[in-house]
Amino acid sequence: MYFTLQSPLDMHLHLRDEMMLYQVAVHSAKSFAGGLVMPNLVPPVTSIETLLAYKERILTACGNEKFEPLMSLFFRNDYSYEFLQKAKPYIYALKLYPSGITTNSEGGVNSMDIENLRATFEAMSELEIPLCVHGETNGFVMDREAEFGSIYEQFASNFPKLKIIMEHITTKHSVDLLSRYENLYATITLHHLLITLDDVIGGAMQPHLFCKPIAKRPEDREALLHVALSGDSKVMFGSDSAPHPLHKKECCGCAAGVFSAPIALQVLVELFEKHNKLENLQAFISNNARVIYNFIPLAKEVILEKKPFLVPNNYGDVVPMFAGAELAWSIKNVH
Ligand code: NCD
Ligand code: ZN
Repeated sequence: MYFTLQSPLDMHLHLRDEMMLYQVAVHSAKSFAGGLVMPNLVPPVTSIETLLAYKERILTACGNEKFEPLMSLFFRNDYSYEFLQKAKPYIYALKLYPSGITTNSEGGVNSMDIENLRATFEAMSELEIPLCVHGETNGFVMDREAEFGSIYEQFASNFPKLKIIMEHITTKHSVDLLSRYENLYATITLHHLLITLDDVIGGAMQPHLFCKPIAKRPEDREALLHVALSGDSKVMFGSDSAPHPLHKKECCGCAAGVFSAPIALQVLVELFEKHNKLENLQAFISNNARVIYNFIPLAKEVILEKKPFLVPNNYGDVVPMFAGAELAWSIKNVH
C-alpha cells in the first residue's frame, strides 16, 4: 500500500546552527518541501543580514535535497515600520516568545500588555506579516497555555487584521479558541497528538519526550486529534522538532524539546490511517499552511509505503522520538 503527499510542510521547526544544523537539517530536507525555521538561536535572529546568512547555512546543510527554509525573525517590539517593510520579502513570520519561557527565549518580550506591542502589531497587520506566538505564561506548568488564552483573545480582537498563529497548541481550550476568532490559527506537533503527561512522567521519566509546552491531559490530546484529523483549515502541522545533544537530555536539568523530524511523516500517515482519515492528511500537512501563509511551496512528491521502518537509535548525538522502534510506514521515494 502506498500513500502520496504533495509538498509536505513543517510549519514549526528548530534547525539550530553549526554542528547541530549539519546533523539535523538534512532529515527535514529529505521528506519535507519546506519548513518555518524558528529564530531562537544564540543570539536570536533579529536582523536581515543574520537571517539571510542563516538561510544560506541551512541551504548548505540541506545538500542536494529540495527544501525551502521559510525564515522567521525573533519578535522585538522596537522594530521600526521601515525595518519590517525591508524584512518582509525575506520572512514568513515574526515569532514572539515571552521572555525566558523556553529554550533561548531570554531576549523575548517582558510584558504582554497590548500598548507595549501595539506599534509592532499594527505595522505587521499593515504589511501582512503573520505573528507566531509561544503562548505560555510563567504560571503553574499545566495551566500556562490556558492562562495565555486571554492574551490570545486580546491580541486577536484588538488586531483583527493580524494573522496570529498559536504555536504548538496542547489544550482543548486552545482548540476552542480557533473557532471563536477568525484571525487565530494554530500549529500542532506530532508528539502532542500522541502522548499525554503520563507518557513523560507517569512511569519512568522520559527525557526525550520532555518539551515545552509539556504534554497535557487525555481530553486535551483528544481535542487536538479531533481538529487535526478533520483537516480543519485553521490548523497545520508544525513538528516543533527541537534537537538537543544527548548529554543535554539525559542529565540533571534536561533541556526541553522532542526531535521528531526524521519520523514525522511516517508516523502521521500511520495515525491518520488508524483513524480512517487519510484523506485529510494533505490538508493538515500542506494545503492549510499554503492558505494561511499565502504562498506556493516547492513542488515535491513524497511517496510513503506501508513497509516497516526501524527508527535509528540516534542521529549523531541526538535521540529521535521512537528511537529503536519499528514504524508501520516508511518513505519509499521523493521527487
Ligand atoms: C524548543 C527548543 O528547544 O528550541 N523547545 C521545546 O521544548 N519545544 C523551543 C520551543 O519551541 O519552545
Ligand atoms: Zn519550538
